[in-house]
Amino acid sequence: MAETGEKQARGGSRADVAPSTAAAYLDPHYWDERFASEEHYEWFKDYSHFQHILRPFLNPSHSVLEIGCGNSRLCEELRRDGVADITCIDISQVAVERTRSRLLDMGLEGIKVVQADMLDLPFDSESFDVVIEKGTMDVLFVDSGDPWRPRPATVNKVMKMLEGVHKVLKPEGIFISISFGQPHFRRPLFESPGFTWSMEWNTFGEGFHYFFYILKKGKRISESDYSNEYKNGSWSVPSFNLLHEELEDEDYIFRTTICDELET
Ligand SMILES: C[S@@+](CC[C@H](N)C(=O)[O-])C[C@H]1O[C@@H](n2cnc3c(N)ncnc32)[C@H](O)[C@@H]1O
Repeated sequence: MAETGEKQARGGSRADVAPSTAAAYLDPHYWDERFASEEHYEWFKDYSHFQHILRPFLNPSHSVLEIGCGNSRLCEELRRDGVADITCIDISQVAVERTRSRLLDMGLEGIKVVQADMLDLPFDSESFDVVIEKGTMDVLFVDSGDPWRPRPATVNKVMKMLEGVHKVLKPEGIFISISFGQPHFRRPLFESPGFTWSMEWNTFGEGFHYFFYILKKGKRISESDYSNEYKNGSWSVPSFNLLHEELEDEDYIFRTTICDELET
């Protein structure tokens, strides 16, 4: 089985599981079918690439919610780093069952794995110290259209997800979002009125950089200052490189709508 870098597609080749259009990523059936044959695929990068950024926000006593676990090994890595209380959710029942059985085989029964929709999180308010997602919120953007003016339906879904995350975070909880989406596009959503979190971001990866957003609930000081990015009546174009060659094939499909807009 071919493996490229930290991406490992055991149980099926990339061509077997990648959809023909990016919109398929919005379909839970797509994910069920995919996870039925794919054993492991780490979106963007695996834990080793961003562990140094995440670790300072983790504490063994923290309760952590991972949204859209898929067949990623992130939850095992968090457990290895000492986090005891971990809950994973995914919309795909197949992903949930396969993750449960994998964790059982590894003797990691303590990690809870729940089938749930990120747009309707089945948890009480203020349940988690840390909520983390890697590539899951990005799914909501695959049919967003112009990234500078995403479709209202996209914005509504993203806001629903963010409101749910904000609600289940403890008063000083932290939301970590690992994403393709650049700060220009994510900031207006993360900093919508009503959210009390502050926003910082970092990057990781070689060549192409992925974005690592850190949203600290209860730490927002004032409304955002967009002056560095909004000049002369338009948003400034990001200065970092968006070469397709830097991306794995499937990352490219996933990202197509964003790249198309920026490169025209
Ligand atoms: C791009 S993959 C990322 C998987 C994993 N986080 C990783 O880093 O490899 C998106 C994941 O989100 C899940 N997903 C899609 N829509 C969802 C939703 N509405 N609620 C919960 N999970 C969802 C998919 O089943 C899939 O596992």
